[in-house]
Amino acid sequence: MIYVFPLIHALDVDRLEYIQRAAIEVNHSGTITKVEHLKEDENIDGDDVVHAHPNEFLVPGFVDTHSHAPQFSNIGFGFNLELLDWLSQVTFPTESNYQDAQVAQIDFAKVVEATLSVGTTTCSYYSSLHLDATKILAATCHSKGQRALVGKVNMDSHCPDYYKDESPEVSMAQTKEYVDYVRNNLKSAIVHPIITPRFAICCSPELLEQMGEYLKDENLHIQTHLCENKGEIDFTMSLYPNDESYTHIYANRGILSDRTILAHCCHLTNSEMDLIKQYDCGISHCPTSNFNLRSGITDVNQLLTDGITKVGLGSDCSGGYEAGILQSLRDASTASKALSIFHNKPTYLSLEKLFYLATLGGARALDLEKQIGNFIVGKQFDALVIDPLTIANKSLIDSSKQSYISPLDRLKRNFERWLFAGTSANLQAVFVDGKNINIK
Ligand code: GUN
Ligand code: FE
Repeated sequence: MIYVFPLIHALDVDRLEYIQRAAIEVNHSGTITKVEHLKEDENIDGDDVVHAHPNEFLVPGFVDTHSHAPQFSNIGFGFNLELLDWLSQVTFPTESNYQDAQVAQIDFAKVVEATLSVGTTTCSYYSSLHLDATKILAATCHSKGQRALVGKVNMDSHCPDYYKDESPEVSMAQTKEYVDYVRNNLKSAIVHPIITPRFAICCSPELLEQMGEYLKDENLHIQTHLCENKGEIDFTMSLYPNDESYTHIYANRGILSDRTILAHCCHLTNSEMDLIKQYDCGISHCPTSNFNLRSGITDVNQLLTDGITKVGLGSDCSGGYEAGILQSLRDASTASKALSIFHNKPTYLSLEKLFYLATLGGARALDLEKQIGNFIVGKQFDALVIDPLTIANKSLIDSSKQSYISPLDRLKRNFERWLFAGTSANLQAVFVDGKNINIK
């Protein structure tokens, strides 16, 4: 297929490319084989050519670097609580329901449909601790065509008896069985397993050590939470008094690698940032959740300036109340402006950086940059078709038609406006791995 569209994508942290008329050629495997810049009067036609409707443009699919599928039924509840109380009073009781495979089957289908319909073409999911539910989530992503990393949560400590892995050994045995299932039964090109220790509080030292041992021989993705909330950090350090910092707890047990995604990171010390840089880990910035649970404000602009660029956005549903990454992008903007006001610094996250975080930065954080994140030849075609001026945007008057605005400026204005004032109603089509996913 050849898609003739205006196109916007991130080439690096500070670099967006706008192409007024691009022709993207995609082969049968969903790989981008050619990207041409067409002249305004240059025509290409054929059965396999798709042209943009007026105003439409193409962007890479959104990457959600952190979400919890068994928490979607809680979206919007519990924001009078902070993290540890929210987990014990709101989250664990809900996640425990996924013991029932039928609940998982019904709910996870809705979760994947919901996230695809807001433009999340790739998602890194925490399932519950249940083996069957986790297999169901992976299979659901595969059958519905969403690119995903899916992990069975490991937790054997400081959690209620009704929601707890029986022992480190059982936790590991089930994790290995799950990885084996995805690799040998599901055999998906787009869904992969990810090792998912919930966070240090919920993992005994024995469990973290056994995970580290397993990871020595396996080239697997890993995800966990880090330095989200001050009370959490204090409790964590009381459980691991001999480790230099929260980040060292993971480093010392083999949990950190260039395939590790660390969620939140609101309160990192300089030595922890150095460690994250040394191991080349990814960071998932979850501003909506950080505000809702009053956890803190991650200074992402500073991370990017300090050379930590494997950073993406995470909805962290249901710490976050919105599945779509547009909300995370807007809250990342607000968070960076709040820091800029409080610290009396003129710098905050630019439009370029915000869109980078939502797409290419997310791909880098998940160690999927070779596959996705922008429209570079050799990558897979994960894309969104946006109509920025659908009837859904009743309050938006098309001011960009004024004659002094060039076509390129018009594209830039429509893009910016969609990012800050658009909705999922602007999504006309969602492509994953070259396939047009039915989202209506
Ligand atoms: N830390 C440990 N578990 C969780 C979780 O489910 N959500 C958030 N936001 N933080 C956590
Ligand atoms: Fe989370």
